[in-house]
Amino acid sequence: MEKLIIKGGKKLEGEVNISAAKNSVLPILAATILNGNNCTIENMPMLEDVFVICEVLKSLKANVIIDKLNNRVKINTANLFDNESNDELVRKMRASFLIMGPMLGRFGNFKISLPGGCNIGTRPIDLHLKGLSALGAEITVGHGYVEANAKKLIGSNIYLDYPSVGATENIMMAAALAEGETVIGNAAEEPEIVDLAMFLKAMGAQISGEGTDTIRILGVKDFKEVVHKPIYDRIEAGTFMITAAITKSLFKINGVNEVHLKPIIAKLTEMGVAVEINKNSIIVDGRKKLNPIDIKTMPYPGFPTDMQAQMMSLLCTVKGTSIITETVFENRFMQAVELKRMGANIKIDGRSAVIEGIDTFTGSEVKATDLRAGAALILAGLTAEGTTVIEDIYHIDRGYVSIEEKLKRLGADIERVSYCK
Ligand code: UD1
Repeated sequence: MEKLIIKGGKKLEGEVNISAAKNSVLPILAATILNGNNCTIENMPMLEDVFVICEVLKSLKANVIIDKLNNRVKINTANLFDNESNDELVRKMRASFLIMGPMLGRFGNFKISLPGGCNIGTRPIDLHLKGLSALGAEITVGHGYVEANAKKLIGSNIYLDYPSVGATENIMMAAALAEGETVIGNAAEEPEIVDLAMFLKAMGAQISGEGTDTIRILGVKDFKEVVHKPIYDRIEAGTFMITAAITKSLFKINGVNEVHLKPIIAKLTEMGVAVEINKNSIIVDGRKKLNPIDIKTMPYPGFPTDMQAQMMSLLCTVKGTSIITETVFENRFMQAVELKRMGANIKIDGRSAVIEGIDTFTGSEVKATDLRAGAALILAGLTAEGTTVIEDIYHIDRGYVSIEEKLKRLGADIERVSYCK
């Protein structure tokens, strides 16, 4: 087991490089299933979630080469076997369910264990299934499995009740090999959807409207070899922006797309954080006194739910009352319990959290309960008085590349330590 030990109070400076987006590369890895030719993904973030989905692909007999030295993954799914996938791996990570769409598209049938993943609400898959059945799949759910069968997938008009990121991706991938045109209405507009479309288009898919609420996919018969470099991780960039604000520091963040960060920049600016935007980088200055604010999480281009926990840590350190409303997921305030151990004054009422700013966090022993909750604890630890010990950091490793190394380079006092429970 590993834990992080943070001695708080250090001012940070210098530069940090952002890795490629976890939430882009997971569907992109799944999309390689559609293509029997070589697929190369450059600048791959070497993350636990990436390794899990690569293992899922290997369990289906894909040839997967992970080149950690050059951050490159090469996949060839020519000899893919339309068997069931490895249950244990699929249950480990919700995003594994993204192989359903492409497996169905390529083989016309697939059976997969119901997904697991971060402990944030019930996270159903009804919208994925609704979309796939609109394309002609017969779906059976039972005994912990989902099975889909279709002699032929036929393009269709699908209107999502909610702009689910995963459902939009699964439908896009299945529709890429369907006969005729599929139109997804009320589609998710996240930058990661656009990146998936870029990948699919680079291998020969016919897609338009990605990044808007209506995506059109004209099915094709086959695909060609592809090399793709995914977008930068806007959530990692946002986490480092909050790092500057919470430690009252100024530093530069390289590898950002300002457009993707707009909702985060808007809220930090409203609080009084100074943000200088350059071509591929931003300089964040959190040295001024900050104001409390209210935040409501929304699908893109609203404020991302994946930044909610980190924002809660920051608002705990800002004098006055702030309110966070979580509209995307139920039960996504798990970090509050741990932040309270560190002295936070937070009251949860259903989907809202009322936060009264405190003078400072106090270093404590805490546990990461999910990926972003873990990031929120690191942020609190960086500014806390004394030493913070964070356990269960495997959650954090699912989505942040070498987070302690990146923070150390900025001047933080943070160590990863192995221990036995
Ligand atoms: C993706 C992201 C995750 C992010 C989330 C919202 C990946 C790998 N993960 O997750 O980091 O927090 O988008 O931005 O990209 N829902 C249903 N039925 C469905 C599908 C979803 O009711 O069939 C609900 C969910 O329970 C949730 C909401 O819709 O309340 C949003 O979920 P969705 O957009 O699907 O998130 P994910 O794709 O799971």
